Amino acid sequence: MSAGPKIPPDLAATIVDPLAFGAWQPLLDAYATLRREAPIALAEIPGYRPFWVVTRHADILKISKDNTTFLNNPATVVLAPIMAEMFVSHLMNGSPHLVKSLVQMDAPEHPKYRRLTQDWFMPANLKTIEANIRTIAKASVDKMLAMGNECDFARDVASMYPLHVVMELLGVPESDEPLMLKLTQELFGGQDPDLNRTRAVQMSAEDAAKIMAQTVADFNAYFEAMAQDRRANPRQDLATIIATGMIDGAPIPDYESAGYYTIVATAGHDTTSASTAGAMWALAQDPDQFAKVKADRTLLPGLIEEAIRWTTPVQHFMRTVATDTEVGGIAMKAGDWLMLCYISGNYDESVFPEPERFDATRSPNRHIAFGSGAHQCLGLHLARLEMKILFEELLDRLDSVELAGEPKRSQSTFVGGPKTLPLRFKAA
Ligand code: HEM
Repeated sequence: MSAGPKIPPDLAATIVDPLAFGAWQPLLDAYATLRREAPIALAEIPGYRPFWVVTRHADILKISKDNTTFLNNPATVVLAPIMAEMFVSHLMNGSPHLVKSLVQMDAPEHPKYRRLTQDWFMPANLKTIEANIRTIAKASVDKMLAMGNECDFARDVASMYPLHVVMELLGVPESDEPLMLKLTQELFGGQDPDLNRTRAVQMSAEDAAKIMAQTVADFNAYFEAMAQDRRANPRQDLATIIATGMIDGAPIPDYESAGYYTIVATAGHDTTSASTAGAMWALAQDPDQFAKVKADRTLLPGLIEEAIRWTTPVQHFMRTVATDTEVGGIAMKAGDWLMLCYISGNYDESVFPEPERFDATRSPNRHIAFGSGAHQCLGLHLARLEMKILFEELLDRLDSVELAGEPKRSQSTFVGGPKTLPLRFKAA
């Protein structure tokens, strides 16, 4: 590991503490200090391998775009304690990953797998499913209005709508959606006692990894059966495209197809749920902004980008240095591990004036919530489209919204956002 500036222990502890992600402001304050005083610095935290913490927008972007120097495959792409890394490596015969999806791959393998579904996720294809998404959005708003004038928007609307969309596109039957939601929350919310598999408030790193492995095994069993079914009975769904995909002239192996399904079935909804709830949270706090967007729908794309920036549902990814290099004047050695802090990049005051303010008219809005480079989010057009359609329907049918209680964020260092958003509303 290279030598370099070190992060003071209290700040280092904050940026890996799920409670700080739940509390939010202490996290934003810690990132602001790091951007100002130590934009690339080493975190040496008991129980973890040392890693570089990258907090400025420009540095995160530079690293994300250089997929030759900074790799995804050599180590876990989500921060994990040493005990969890050891457990996974033992379980997976030396591999650092429980799942093998696009996120865990590098070139030359990565582009081959990504090409299988790339066109499907492009706007031209999404146009063909837009009407279907609108039907789901309308039904979600019907359900919300049928609840009277109050709901928990995060739980009742934001977490259900993108789940239904992505499962329908993937080809998972509606009756299995609760199972998919539960497994996704276990995978992403493993540190949150409201969301993890055992509801434990505290767990050892090894126990957490063991539980995570059970969740992944459940996903694998479900999706391996689905791949077999689609090979035998092809349909018009994304599951069939993946199951019948060919890599170097051979069918995609079961483990890789299960990983492909898992990334779509998890990244495909919890993230969009978080930014959808984030948008509603901001509007509920600011009646003027709600009225402005309701009256002028040309502001809708700006509202959506700002919600994605302000919420930043994917909160970090890790990379591993392939060859000795330098970023922002800091020398890094091959094998070094580093953390891309997307929230910090999206709150970088040198790019976003008054970053904590939600401003639907913010322009330009060069947020990095979808990452950048070869791994840039494959579902970004789908996420934007889903949010646009839902908010078109919501703004048509709501006259006003306000908070009806204290919203709560999930306590997770990886994928996070509002988990509770008590909302009072008046129908139009
Ligand atoms: C990758 C964010 C929605 C599928 C990623 C990455 C981020 C991200 C940060 C990693 C980028 C990088 O390493 O540079 C988000 C956010 C979303 C969202 C904030 C919603 C607001 C979706 C949806 C889908 C999806 C709706 C699919 C249905 C994927 C996939 C990858 C990915 C498959 C892996 C791409 C690769 O490694 O090549 N996403 N995502 N995401 N996302 Fe999303």
